[in-house]
Amino acid sequence: MKNSSFPRIFSAGHIGSLHPKNRLVLPPIVRNYADENGCATPRYIAHIERIARGGVGTIILEASYVRQDGKGFARQLGIHDDIVIPGLRKLVEAGRQYGALMGIQLFHGGRQASAKTSGTQPVAPSAIPDPLVNEMPHELTTEEITAVVAAFGAAAERAKRIGFDFVELHGAHGYLIAQFLSPFSNARKDEYGGSPQNRDRFLEEIYSAVRQEVGESFPVTVRLSAEELIPKGLTIDDTVATAKHLERLGVAALHISSGNYATYAQGTMIPPMAMADGVLIPLAAKVKQAVSIPVIAVGKLRTPEMVENILEKGHADFIALGRSLLADPDWPKKVAAGLCTKLRHCISCNQGCISRLFAQQSVWCTINPEAGREQAFAKLRGGVGRPLLIIGGGAAGMAAARWGAKAGFRVTLHEARSMLGGQLIAAAAAPHREGWGALRNYLISELDRLKVDIRLFSKLDVASVLREKPLAVILATGAEPMRPSMPGWEEMHVVTGRDVLEKTAMHRGPIVIAGGGCSGAQTAEYLAQNGHDVTVLEAEGDIAIDAPTDERALLLARLQQLGVKLMSNTRLIGMALGNVVVLSPHETRMLPADTVVFCLGSQSVTDLLAPLTESGVPVRVIGDAVKPRKVTEAIAEGAMTILDLLGAPIDSALREELHWPPPADTKIADAKIKVPTTV
Ligand SMILES: Cc1cc2nc3c(=O)[nH]c(=O)nc-3n(C[C@H](O)[C@H](O)[C@H](O)COP(=O)(O)O)c2cc1C
Ligand code: SF4
Repeated sequence: MKNSSFPRIFSAGHIGSLHPKNRLVLPPIVRNYADENGCATPRYIAHIERIARGGVGTIILEASYVRQDGKGFARQLGIHDDIVIPGLRKLVEAGRQYGALMGIQLFHGGRQASAKTSGTQPVAPSAIPDPLVNEMPHELTTEEITAVVAAFGAAAERAKRIGFDFVELHGAHGYLIAQFLSPFSNARKDEYGGSPQNRDRFLEEIYSAVRQEVGESFPVTVRLSAEELIPKGLTIDDTVATAKHLERLGVAALHISSGNYATYAQGTMIPPMAMADGVLIPLAAKVKQAVSIPVIAVGKLRTPEMVENILEKGHADFIALGRSLLADPDWPKKVAAGLCTKLRHCISCNQGCISRLFAQQSVWCTINPEAGREQAFAKLRGGVGRPLLIIGGGAAGMAAARWGAKAGFRVTLHEARSMLGGQLIAAAAAPHREGWGALRNYLISELDRLKVDIRLFSKLDVASVLREKPLAVILATGAEPMRPSMPGWEEMHVVTGRDVLEKTAMHRGPIVIAGGGCSGAQTAEYLAQNGHDVTVLEAEGDIAIDAPTDERALLLARLQQLGVKLMSNTRLIGMALGNVVVLSPHETRMLPADTVVFCLGSQSVTDLLAPLTESGVPVRVIGDAVKPRKVTEAIAEGAMTILDLLGAPIDSALREELHWPPPADTKIADAKIKVPTTV
């Protein structure tokens, strides 16, 4: 693959003796697709095959545990035992058939691996619990350290035997190797603690054990967190010193990331929407200046222009595209072919991927619901021009329309309002949430490309649905914000957060927001940025508690900077001209307010469900119309509904993830259509 606009991306490079076909790397991403013994599943193999087909030069399989006590995720890959060999061989073959170099990351979670997952007390250099996992680890004795080191060596030997081209040692993100490197977690007084040389010793011994097992020419790379962003944590200067040491030892390449669990919320480890693209490049560049072995850069690298520029400036030798390849496995191929406008960019929402992983669920991608469901979507066909009617043009409805049209249905999408997007319109208007706008634009452009018949200002009733004679109706009518009535309502200017963000209602200050969940906090930021005096009332103990961890910390810091007043354990109980009445645990008091903004959640809109069902039309309900949830669920449900309508096999694991019912007993292809009425 070559492209003259991006010559460096597609130029030759090397990792030790290996010569990948381009400078693009799939970094390790735990997906929770393995079985409970750490073995690769058909789902996993199909997923890696799909990414490799898109043209990435090097694939590093996920952090794979070298010992049971280091297992960090319920369905993580293991490399701890020979039982994993057949599955890993298939993964290697899946990537290699498309010319990708295949590596695997060797991992031990240490104190960041919970006993709930590994089944045993975590181990660590010192008996200091990780602040997030909060479980007291067992401090490893020197004999036990030797055993862990040997497990890394054995895992590397297994990797070589399986046929991997190289291994990567996971020395980043606060896991066991990083725990030894960092004074934040290492308080040992023996030869493994104290001085930088002593703290590096564990990694050095692992490297030597690995080298002994795999021989001199087998490449070994190391991933490091260049900055840990916490008192006593590793700094870039520490990392540069470690990097030079690793180069002297013979490490083939360094992979530069940042952060650990304790600092995850600062947003550098897996940068969320609010972080800039390429936020870790200065760190990679500093390491690159200090060593002559290749450096792999990572961290919200999405556009080919930025990737090419990093390579051109010599800030790194290889570029890892993690979530970008979840969102669009064909990123390399499209760029090589000059089809950059066709890229489906990751929107950094972190909803489908890392948030689910941290909840011990399998990884999805919001903008690409086919990721991790490749086998099911391979069956997406059979619509053959038959009419499918979708009511509601929000995320779920647009997704159903997009995948319905892809399956060959003749799709008509009815939206009651003047534009498509549903709640994505308000979501995208909040500060730092432009990714939702990108998602909306992507779906709209896809509906255009696939020639979906879009009817705006179209509010259907049962008679009009029946006139269209659809094969099936997909009801994606979403949810409406709650507007509870309250004493004094008529004296106050009351709007909803959605009204504010969609700019469909006037608001004047001072403004009180009732409801301090994520949407209330985001609406507060929007209003405060526009110069308003804003107070947020939250009945529970904390603000924006439903926001993803990384988004939340950044959002709260911005609200503080903007001077937004946050009142937790406080609820709105009444309104009067120019004031609201609020109840805190110990007092009832008045606060000045000219506008009250309700951000109190939403309720599903399903007015059409009963009459449509009674009329005998096969109807499916999807998205927030089932129950208000996240965008990632709305899109997954929209796309998967099409598969289900077609009777495509959807395995039970995928059904469970969507809380779906057992398979429909009759396929849509049958003469008499019988489709379950709800999901
Ligand atoms: C779901 C998920 C799982 C991850 N698992 C790993 C892992 O196994 N090992 C690792 O070093 N980093 C892991 N990461 C971090 C990524 O490798 C990468 O550094 C990060 O996502 C930032 O790069 P990106 O913006 O290109 O996605 C994971 C990230 C995500 C989103
Ligand atoms: S879920 Fe969101 S952040 Fe994760 S890969 Fe997909 S679009 Fe990117």
